Amino acid sequence: MSINILCIGDIVGRPGRMVLADKLPAFIEERKVDLVVANAENAAGGSGLTPQIVKKLHRYGVDAITLGDHVFRKREIVQAMEQSDRIVRPVNLLPGAAGRRWTVVPTKDNRYQVAVTCALGQMYMGNWNSPWQAVAKTLDEIPADVKIRVIDFHAEASSEKIAMGWYLNGKVSIVFGTHTHIPTADARVLDGGTAFISDVGMTGPYDGVLGRRKDRVLSVLTTSMPARFDVAEGDPRMCGMLVAVNPQTGKAESAERIEIQGQVAEGGAYDADDGQGRSHD
Ligand SMILES: [Fe+2]
Ligand SMILES: [Fe+2]
Repeated sequence: MSINILCIGDIVGRPGRMVLADKLPAFIEERKVDLVVANAENAAGGSGLTPQIVKKLHRYGVDAITLGDHVFRKREIVQAMEQSDRIVRPVNLLPGAAGRRWTVVPTKDNRYQVAVTCALGQMYMGNWNSPWQAVAKTLDEIPADVKIRVIDFHAEASSEKIAMGWYLNGKVSIVFGTHTHIPTADARVLDGGTAFISDVGMTGPYDGVLGRRKDRVLSVLTTSMPARFDVAEGDPRMCGMLVAVNPQTGKAESAERIEIQGQVAEGGAYDADDGQGRSHD
């Protein structure tokens, strides 16, 4: 008997949260999902995360939250990160950074324990520390009896991501890529029993540029004049990878890319939790 783990990519703003609220509970039911891991670095107003949104994501069915380069964009997340054992920040930040690098969470039925961690890539990403040793050290710290292990590799370059897949092949159950917001078609199980995908894609509005309004992005690109990159609204989709894992060995047995279309939520892209006005969800 295998268990099903759903890994979801960058939840972007209210459209991302709304498509999740709308589609995730039924998906968990239909596909018998035992654990949901989601990258939520863009969940609040398109950048950062707040304690209120953490609660909502858990209500929608997210069990563990990973983060990326926008981890501290909203300062109020720090307290939640220190209190919650269901949020992890990238392992290769400096030692003084708040939050935990890995956690162990139970499956929804409490039968199995799953380790969750995340790391940042370096290529075209800014001045982060090397993820390689940091990831290896983190995996050493996780109790050996926790065989089911999931890592979100938040990185830009597909080459660096696939290299991480091979680096961890046979050592973890799942390596799922996030950050580019564009789903890739390479979900597979590597020969060591590690499910891998370069990028699961964002859970957010695809009628835009990586979740931002396309008119604003285009105006900046075509005029050199600054504009606010507000979150887009149209064509929201929930994207992820569903992996069947043998709970005894921690090996992945199958990997399936998930992309589910939602509807545009009424009332504009923001709510009070974004710190930008009205509250809807
Ligand atoms: Fe992102
Ligand atoms: Fe990112």
